[in-house]
Amino acid sequence: EEQKAEESSDVDTSSDEDEDEQEDEVSNTTDMSECKETSSVCQETKYEVKVEQDGEKEKKISDQEKVQKKPSEPAIFIPVDRSPEVQEARLKLPVLAEEQVIMEAVRENPSIVICGETGSGKTTQVPQFLYEAGYASGGRMIGITEPRRVAAVSMSHRVAKEMNLPTQVVSYQIRYEGNVTSDTKIKFMTDGVLLKEIQKDFLLQKYSAIIIDEAHERSVYTDILIGLLSRIVPLRNKKGMPMKLLIMSATLRVEDFTENQRLFRTPPPVIKVDARQFPVTIHFNKRTPLEDYTGEVFHKTCKIHRMLPPGGILVFLTGQAEVHSLCRRLRKFCIQLKMRKLKPQREAGIGDEEDGDSDLDLGDDAADGEEKADASIPLYVLPLYSLLAPEQQAKVFRPPPPGTRLCVIATNVAETSLTIPGIKYVVDCGRVKKRFYDKVTGVSSFKVTWTSQASANQRAGRAGRTEPGHCYRLYSSAVFGDFALFSEAEITRRPVEDLVLQMKDLNIEKVVNFPFPTPPSTEALVAAEQLLVSLGALEEPPCTGRLKEMQRAKLSCPITPLGRAMASFPVAPRYAKMLALGKQQDCLPYVIAVVAAMTVREIFEDLDRPARSEDESSKLNQRRARLTQMRRLWAGQGASLLLGDLMIMLGAVGACEFAGCTPRFCENSGLRYKAMVEIRKLRGQLTNAVNAVCPEVGIFVDAKMTPPTEHQVVCLRQIVLAGLGDHLARRAQGDDLVDPKWKNAYKTPLMDEPVFIHPNSALFKKLPEFVVYQEVMETSKMYMRGVSAVEAEWVPQFLPQYCHFGSPLESPSPWFCSSTGTVRCHRSSTFFRVGWQLPAVEME
Ligand code: CDP
Ligand code: MG
Repeated sequence: EEQKAEESSDVDTSSDEDEDEQEDEVSNTTDMSECKETSSVCQETKYEVKVEQDGEKEKKISDQEKVQKKPSEPAIFIPVDRSPEVQEARLKLPVLAEEQVIMEAVRENPSIVICGETGSGKTTQVPQFLYEAGYASGGRMIGITEPRRVAAVSMSHRVAKEMNLPTQVVSYQIRYEGNVTSDTKIKFMTDGVLLKEIQKDFLLQKYSAIIIDEAHERSVYTDILIGLLSRIVPLRNKKGMPMKLLIMSATLRVEDFTENQRLFRTPPPVIKVDARQFPVTIHFNKRTPLEDYTGEVFHKTCKIHRMLPPGGILVFLTGQAEVHSLCRRLRKFCIQLKMRKLKPQREAGIGDEEDGDSDLDLGDDAADGEEKADASIPLYVLPLYSLLAPEQQAKVFRPPPPGTRLCVIATNVAETSLTIPGIKYVVDCGRVKKRFYDKVTGVSSFKVTWTSQASANQRAGRAGRTEPGHCYRLYSSAVFGDFALFSEAEITRRPVEDLVLQMKDLNIEKVVNFPFPTPPSTEALVAAEQLLVSLGALEEPPCTGRLKEMQRAKLSCPITPLGRAMASFPVAPRYAKMLALGKQQDCLPYVIAVVAAMTVREIFEDLDRPARSEDESSKLNQRRARLTQMRRLWAGQGASLLLGDLMIMLGAVGACEFAGCTPRFCENSGLRYKAMVEIRKLRGQLTNAVNAVCPEVGIFVDAKMTPPTEHQVVCLRQIVLAGLGDHLARRAQGDDLVDPKWKNAYKTPLMDEPVFIHPNSALFKKLPEFVVYQEVMETSKMYMRGVSAVEAEWVPQFLPQYCHFGSPLESPSPWFCSSTGTVRCHRSSTFFRVGWQLPAVEME
């Protein structure tokens, strides 16, 4: 204890100016001393856990433990009624061996880190340890966050089943759904859900412990949660309502959390769970296919199935489309294989499998593989990816039908979040699909890139859960050597305006001082604050004072009332601004529909992909023609056409609701059914959010809406302009057109390169002079997506903050000039002051 006291006084005196700055941004209601966690605070606090009396057995902990017990620890043991099978299975999990160590560490420390291989039992067992130790008693819950919805849902079911408790007690909450009740004691949720809860209750008083799972994935929300919880936990202790934080990672690389002085003054202890991992033999390819890696994956999988002894196969690909296409190919292969079985041996060898065995090194087992293998065993092929329906996902956990070989074709989701039983072979394409953003322009693109060494090793590890396994890497060891060691934290790779707004709403004014496990670049933070200022969500920084002060002010703009309203809408700030403006001219139901469609993304089936066969090709062409026809219909005529792609979205949502949003309607119209269902849910959620902010408006959104009037369409275009103001583009003209690359192109303020309207766009042929776009995606060209036409005279009226009013010659902004000779102040742009009925401003 003496040592502890010393340590804590050390902490007390160590505060210098810098640290002051770091601390007070977390909550301006939170002063430095409150954030500090000292052992004396822990001792003073009483843990409010009541022993459950009604009929439940109370098991006493051993005497020795009692002696060591501290006043702050829960004094009870809540029994769990597990079936003998569950009991037996769980005893095999490595994490069980560490139960005592983990629980002791939890008692002694406010925060701990647990590292253990995927499949060692962290996600399913640690919540149960806490439950048994009484952390779910006394009216508080145990919360577990997952970066993926799939994991939150499936893990809650699994734990409920293991504990023999109903889903009212072990529940989940994801963005659109959940089964949490007032009886919930263990709550699985996505990290985004917990972040929203922090906004409502900074102290998270409903919880006695929070487990941040899959921390190694370094998802943006996980990172932010860890930063926030590093402050919330000591605050809770200080207030006499102790809370525990457990960070769980599948890799040992946790220095960003433990050795980060800004995060935890005293590094949290790291408990390593020794995985009972069987050896996995790694087989590299001699050469690395650069183009058709999916073909290579197919050949390898077929080969494993034909030649190697029983055992499940897990294939890693990069996306949903690839997964489905490989599933189809493999099923076809199985049928062919079965037919071939009926013919004499010598004829074996199906057409598309003739790539010589030289670099299809199948390891030792391959030598006598032919004899061992029984090719008549059907391959039981299952897809697995995040967006797959839960019933489909659950299939991978069940044993395959007797006499079949399990073959799961998965994306990253099988890397660490989910453990599939019975896998002996892993086929790793070595790639991963990621969204990349341009730091300056925000232009995004999906790119398939090499994965990291850490990820590749995680993938390989999936083969050794139940017995020794094999991992086939479809790239050479030299290529592997060039992989990055670890994947970068997501927060360093994407724009952060949404996070900055959420943090400001939590009264974290100086986001730059927030204890991020890995901070985003200052550049990204400045860009975010600038955008939020121009949307009216943050107050404008003062333009006076010394340069340094001005720069600092740029990174600590206070939130405005509009910003608070925007932060309460669960969509990106640009769209939140549109919602805030939506009540003009009864436009809200339309704005909600458009914002929902833009947020859900990819509402149309992807028909631009190349066809795999002749057959498919003609079918695809038919569907393309049909979708083009529907798009044209939804885009409408005349005035509504000018709302462009957003009108198409609105038309699709409206039509779909009138048709009852059935899978059949979607299939026939080229819409993604899942997306449409999600849009419906999001519309409901946004309606509630808007009603909560302005109860006096009290809108009711009828799923079935009538098309907007011409007047409303104009209003919608203006609202869209106000939200997407920084995404304004003007048709290239004058000198630019000398260079043919500028033909039909648009200029934007931030990019030097021409951007284009996509051929699928409603405005492809119209080429209006000014447009706003949802985003620019780089594919074969820089294409704007979600394009709407706007009128030139609206720009100075609604976006004065982006205009320089001066003579055209001296205007520093070549993409837009006006000429009133004055420089207008930005302030007038917040929506409360913009009157939509005003006649167009005279620009001269
Ligand atoms: O979180 P971690 O990766 O350490 O392991 P886990 O997800 O708790 O999984 C522990 C064990 O439970 C694994 O062997 C899984 O195969 C099994 N499990 C299962 O059979 N069905 C589920 N729905 C979830 C887990
Ligand atoms: Mg896990």
